[in-house]
Order: sequence, then C-alpha cells, then structure tokens
Amino acid sequence: MMDPALITSSLLVVLAALSIFHLQLRSIGSEPPLIKGRIPILGVAFEWFYEPGAFLESIRKRKGWIYTLYMAGRKMTVVSDPVIGITQVLTQGRVFNAPIFFAFLNKQLFGFSDATMDDNRFRDALNTKLVQLLSNKSKMSQIVELLTATYRGFVDETSGFCQREEVIDLYNFARYNMYTASATALFGPSFPIQKTFEPYIVFEENLLSYIRKVPRFLNPSGYNARDRTLEIIGQFFTDDEKVAKSSEIVRELREVFQRPEYGYTRPEDFAGYFLSIVFASKSNSVPAAFWYIAHIVSDVELKTEVENIIAANYKKATGSFDWDELCRDELLVSCFKETARLVSNVTSGRYVTQDTILKVADPLNTGSDWKKSVKEYELHKGDSVLVIGNLIHWDPQAYPEPMRWIGKRFLEENKGKLVMHADEWRSYLPWGGGGHMCPGRHLALVEAVVQCVYILWFFDVEPIDKLPSMFIKHKYGTGVIRPDKPFNVTFKRRTIPLQ
Ligand code: HEM
Ligand SMILES: *[C@@H]1O[C@H](CO)[C@@H](O)[C@H](O)[C@H]1NC(C)=O
Ligand SMILES: *[C@@H]1O[C@H](CO)[C@@H](O)[C@H](O)[C@H]1NC(C)=O
Ligand SMILES: *[C@@H]1O[C@H](CO)[C@@H](O)[C@H](O)[C@H]1NC(C)=O
Repeated sequence: MMDPALITSSLLVVLAALSIFHLQLRSIGSEPPLIKGRIPILGVAFEWFYEPGAFLESIRKRKGWIYTLYMAGRKMTVVSDPVIGITQVLTQGRVFNAPIFFAFLNKQLFGFSDATMDDNRFRDALNTKLVQLLSNKSKMSQIVELLTATYRGFVDETSGFCQREEVIDLYNFARYNMYTASATALFGPSFPIQKTFEPYIVFEENLLSYIRKVPRFLNPSGYNARDRTLEIIGQFFTDDEKVAKSSEIVRELREVFQRPEYGYTRPEDFAGYFLSIVFASKSNSVPAAFWYIAHIVSDVELKTEVENIIAANYKKATGSFDWDELCRDELLVSCFKETARLVSNVTSGRYVTQDTILKVADPLNTGSDWKKSVKEYELHKGDSVLVIGNLIHWDPQAYPEPMRWIGKRFLEENKGKLVMHADEWRSYLPWGGGGHMCPGRHLALVEAVVQCVYILWFFDVEPIDKLPSMFIKHKYGTGVIRPDKPFNVTFKRRTIPLQ
C-alpha cells in the first residue's frame, strides 16, 4: 500500500507546480492582455460557462476591444473592435483561417465520417460548389418560387388551416412552416423533410452538449436524435430514385461526392456533411423569420405600415406579389436588418496560421484623433481569434438603446442617431465577412419577408402574450437565439382583403 503522507505530499508538489505555472502565465511583450482567472489550467472556464455574455462584457469595460482568455489550458483572443480590428480578422483570410478553426465542429457537432473529415480538398470542392449554387440568380429565383408556393399552400383559403379564428403559438407555427417550406425549396420535395423535422429540432436543442462533449449517458435523447437524423439523411442519399426527384442543389452536391478523385458513396459520408447544410440553412433563418414577424405584429403602428406595403405590392391581375419589390422595400429591409442585429449571436472563429500583428483601436477614444490611440498586438501561430456577434451588435457605442428592437433603426434617416459611425465602422456582422461571408443571406431575408407577407395578407393577427424574451443560454455563440416561451397570438382569417 502507498503511504498516505507520500500521496498527499506528491499531490501538493503537483498543485504547487501548477500554481507556479499559473502565476507565471502572463501576456508577453505586446500580446493582448491575458485574463487567466485564479484556477490553474481551468482558468476562467467557470465564469465562461456560468454566464459568458456578462463575463465578457465586464472584461471589455476593463480591457477594451481585445483580450485573451485562458481556459482549460487553451488561449482564445476575443476581438470586438469595429473601428479597425474586426476588418483585419475577417478579411485577411490567409492569416485568419476559418475552415481550420471550424474543423472541430464537423466531427463533434455534425458527425462527419472520418474519411470526409480528413479530406480538405474535397471539403473545399463542396464549399465552392455550394457557394456557386447559392449565388446563381436563375437557380435562386426557382428556389424562391418554390418557397413562396409552398408557404402559401400552408395558409391560403384552400389550406384548410384556420377558417375563422384560432389561437396560435407563433413560434411553433412559424418554425414548422418555415422549416418545411425552406427545406422543400432548397432540397426538393423528395427530401425526407417531415421525417427529419422532429429529430432535427431535438438536435438543435442540444448543440451545446455535442460541442462540450457531454458524455452520451448524460444526454441519451440528444445523441439519439442526432443519430436518427443522420440515419434518415444517409438512407435518402442511397435511394437513387428519390435523389433523382430532389433539387439541383442536392444532385450537384452529390455529384461532387461521386467524382472519381473523391469517390465517397457510403451513407455516413453524405449524412454528416448534409446535416451541416441543413443546419447552416435552417438553424438561423427559421428563428430569424419568427422574430421578424413577431416584432412587427407587436407594434401596432408598424404593423399597419407593413400591411399597407404588402397591399401595395399585390398584383390583382395575376393574384401574386412582387417579391423583388417587397425584398427591396426600405422598411421591410430595415426591420430585417434590425432583427438580425438583435437576435443573432454568431461567432466568426479564426485560426491564426502565422505570427502576425493586429492593430486595435481604443473604445475610450473614438473621436477624430482615434488613430493616435491605436495599439499593435502580437498574435502567434496556433492562436484562436473569436469575433462574437452580440458583443458588437449590443454595444451602445454603435447602437444606442441596443436591447430595443427598433424596426426603423436602419432607415437612412437614422444614421448617426440610431446607428453610429454607420459608414466607418464594421459593426454589422450577422453574416460574418470576408471570404466566408454567408452565401444564404439574401435567401434569409426572402424567407422572413415571404412568411410575414402571407401571414398578414391572409390573417388579422393580434398578439395575446407579450413578446417573449430571447433565451440567451440556448445557443451561446452558435447563432440566432430562440424565444424563452411560446408566443400566443390570435389569427383571424380576413374576409375583406388588405387595401
Ligand atoms: C438569419 C439567417 C442566417 C444567419 C444569421 C447566417 C449566418 C452565417 C454566418 C455568420 C456565416 C459565416 C461564419 C463565419 O464568418 O465564419 C455563415 C456561413 C454560411 N451560411 Fe449562413 N446564415 C443564415 C442563413 C443561411 C441560409 C438560409 C443558408 C443557406 C441557404 C446559409 C448558408 C451558409 C453557408 C453554406 C455558409 C458557409 C460559407 C463559407 O464558409 O464559405 N446561411 N452564415
Ligand atoms: C454569445 O456568444 C458568446 C460566445 O460563445 C458567449 O460568450 C455569449 O455569452 C453569447 N451571448 C449571448 C447573449 O448569448
Ligand atoms: C446558373 O444556373 C442555370 C440554370 O440551372 C445554368 O443554366 C447557368 O449556367 C448557371 N450560371 C452560372 C454562372 O453558373
Ligand atoms: C397558448 O395557447 C394554447 C392554446 O392554443 C394554450 O394551451 C396555452 O396555454 C397558451 N399559452 C400561453 C402561454 O398562454
């Protein structure tokens, strides 16, 4: 048996060594200030997990627009400088690499197969293909057509839905309809949309479990839901008849898998990647489209203005809407920009590929001589840099009354009043930026507008509940937040059309 005293003293030696190591951790030279907490190795992990938003905000007040967190043995530098810092991180793609940073999510979150995980050239080819598809105007207009037709079918007179009056939880309603309409438009009617809906929703609810590597036995339902989603998607891809009847996006992406130089054909190869596409295209735009209409119907005057815009863009002759005009309308666009500002907490993470210098401005001096207080910070190869959406979007220096949704905030007339330094600062980043800027951003606007237009066209909508709050702890940096409770509203089918 080992001597208890020996065990204790060896433990003490280890603890002492850890503490000395921890005490010696500091930023060297012109590295960003280091926030290391009191606990060796763990560093600030507790504060981070407990209430990261408030924690980061308190550091910003003390340290400014750049600092490095030491956590669980790793260092992550947070940059929130809209003046010059963020631009460098997002646009110098070779130094600040996105795919390397996000690679860990591919396996941990989406369950990529090992083979596709390790093949960088293949994943580049897929990404190039997808971005190409999403930026092709004629393909996008077909997608929008299918989206509007599908959504209309859920709510119009022939739908059988709500013939007179009904109480609806707008979040559940919007989530189901938008998931279905958008997935039908992007992946085609033969994609297993109904079958994936339930398990996919559970998958989304449990994102943090996968990212934090919570063991399976602590969250069996979360992991089972993901397995189920992967299995359904995998089966679909092995069914040639179904794939033949799916969308161009699905078929052209599958073609990349099957190219002789790659030759990935197992269900699990398709499943992991495609779950990531379902996620990219649904996890943010579906709740964003909910918040969009929810905020609009909660403001009586604004709702009336929006209804007038809808009526003005209805073409009696064809019985349809001018979607291009609607998606260009200043007020509808401003409401969408404001929604994306307030509810999205997307993190653009980047891996530093070589030692470099980042110039960062000083939040205490944003006057005309701001250039004088710019400082240079050293970053090292292997560091990670995080640009966290809500630290920028909720910063009162950029957006006065940042926690209030103001539909007209982004109208030209409010520049300098509700959006500060609008033309100089990079303080609007729901889509990330640089080479990896979201290729679905226009579609996200269209989805929000289409849902809002059809609901208000067919129904008189009256909120019953107060607008719910954002459920902050839901996603932590992985995207658009969902509401913390249901949002009941009354739908009354219109008998007289909007004028
Ligand atoms: C409100 C809705 C949406 C938000 C807030 C959003 C946000 C983002 C952000 C922030 C990024 C880049 C992350 C970074 O800088 O590292 C991104 C990338 C991406 N998004 Fe979106 N997105 C939305 C809707 C969509 C939709 C509807 C689609 C698909 C049709 C889509 C497809 C993609 C893809 C494929 C990428 C990866 C691009 C690349 O790496 O080159 N997104 N999105
Ligand atoms: C936004 O994401 C960051 C990074 O994960 C997190 O620290 C912060 O608490 C999040 N804020 C909100 C409001 O969710
Ligand atoms: C866009 O898509 C259309 C229809 O699928 C195709 O004919 C055209 O070649 C594509 N354009 C580009 C630039 O890829
Ligand atoms: C919302 O309405 C449903 C019935 O449609 C009801 O069961 C539920 O309790 C309501 N929720 C709230 C928060 O009022």
